[in-house]
Amino acid sequence: MVGREKPFMDEGNLEHIRRWFVGYCQTFYSADPEDQRNILLKEEHTHRVCANIIRIGAEEGLDDERLQLAEVIALLHDVGRFEQYRQYRTFRDGISVDHAALGAEIIREIDLLAGFYPLERDVIHHAVESHNVFVVPKRFQGDSLYFLQLVRDADKLDIWRVFMEYYDQTGEERSAVVGLDFPDLPECSPEILDKITNGELARLSVAKTLNDFKLIQLSWVYDLTFPESFRMVAEREHVRAIAATLPDLPEVRRAVEAVFDFVAGKTSQHFGIPRDFPETP
Ligand SMILES: [Fe+2]
Repeated sequence: MVGREKPFMDEGNLEHIRRWFVGYCQTFYSADPEDQRNILLKEEHTHRVCANIIRIGAEEGLDDERLQLAEVIALLHDVGRFEQYRQYRTFRDGISVDHAALGAEIIREIDLLAGFYPLERDVIHHAVESHNVFVVPKRFQGDSLYFLQLVRDADKLDIWRVFMEYYDQTGEERSAVVGLDFPDLPECSPEILDKITNGELARLSVAKTLNDFKLIQLSWVYDLTFPESFRMVAEREHVRAIAATLPDLPEVRRAVEAVFDFVAGKTSQHFGIPRDFPETP
């Protein structure tokens, strides 16, 4: 564990990373409106993940130093997205590069964490490098595990926001890059529906349609760790709104109900089917 008796994060380190991040994003700004939109989307996502992690961390009772460490992790978690987009014009790791590994590599290459203590550096590297893995590797313990779980929750909470807005747009307004180029077809894969109905996560690699992708996003509630994260799911409309865009089929309804029941169980609040569900797109 990163002990309090050791000199820990100070405001200077956090400020340094905040300033660096702003300047780093600007190096990817583009005159092309579509490229600029995609870069700004990731920049805004990062700031919202910061806000989420601070809220979850504060509710967890983290002291200022640990909250600052959490914010640094949130600021850096998607740093690889910018270079991924510049090189490949996609956010789909499967056809380009693992953006989390790339981010960790960038941080190491420029020695961005030189002002941090070795234990903090390890915690930050682990969290950035593994924030997108399907399940948290068993090898992580202590603070590496804790801060990784924090950023995974904070990240998911904002990804739901990004996609709720995306699904709300018409075909023409949508950025194909955000939708990972999945075809917007009515089909849902039975394999994915089964997993979600059984309370299991489904892998992105098996998704064939945009509906599959939506279902996989709903299944992420099964991976949340912190009570505050569930409260945030319940108080925001994002997950319900994504569910409301799925086709009205009995098997889809069963899967969605499993997701909603899970959230309701974690918050001891009703997490209901949205008023406009079912809705056939
Ligand atoms: Fe990410």
